[in-house]
Amino acid sequence: MQTGSEDSATATSGANNDANLQPEQAEMSKSETTSPSAFKSADIKFVKEDRIVFAASGANLRFKAMENGIDLYTFGGKMMNCGGYGQCGTCVVDIVEGAENLSPRTEAEDRKLKKRPASCRLACQVLVNGSVSVVTKPAKSR
Ligand code: FES
Repeated sequence: MQTGSEDSATATSGANNDANLQPEQAEMSKSETTSPSAFKSADIKFVKEDRIVFAASGANLRFKAMENGIDLYTFGGKMMNCGGYGQCGTCVVDIVEGAENLSPRTEAEDRKLKKRPASCRLACQVLVNGSVSVVTKPAKSR
């Protein structure tokens, strides 16, 4: 009885440098790698915690908070939250500065934040595109 043949993996050097490219390709490659960086950063100031977190532009606010040990949830939210899908409304934050640097309000936020001030957002729905100051666990009424 014959067993199946084993595929042998072809080894490649993995080296992919400009020496293997045509002159036009090499020039293009250089200009792509040396052009001014499109990377934009955003700093997120968590006011209550007195912490500033740096993030790439477009970062999710809930993710950056959790990644940096910032507690977004009250007791109830800790026990039961939707995991960032905009369904539970427990990740509410108040944006005290830089609201213009955030992604537009989503339908989930419109639904969940009806009784909150306009400056409140759901952290899980927010993408940060510039500097912003955030108050976590804001009081329900001001
Ligand atoms: S985590 Fe549930 S709405 Fe943000």
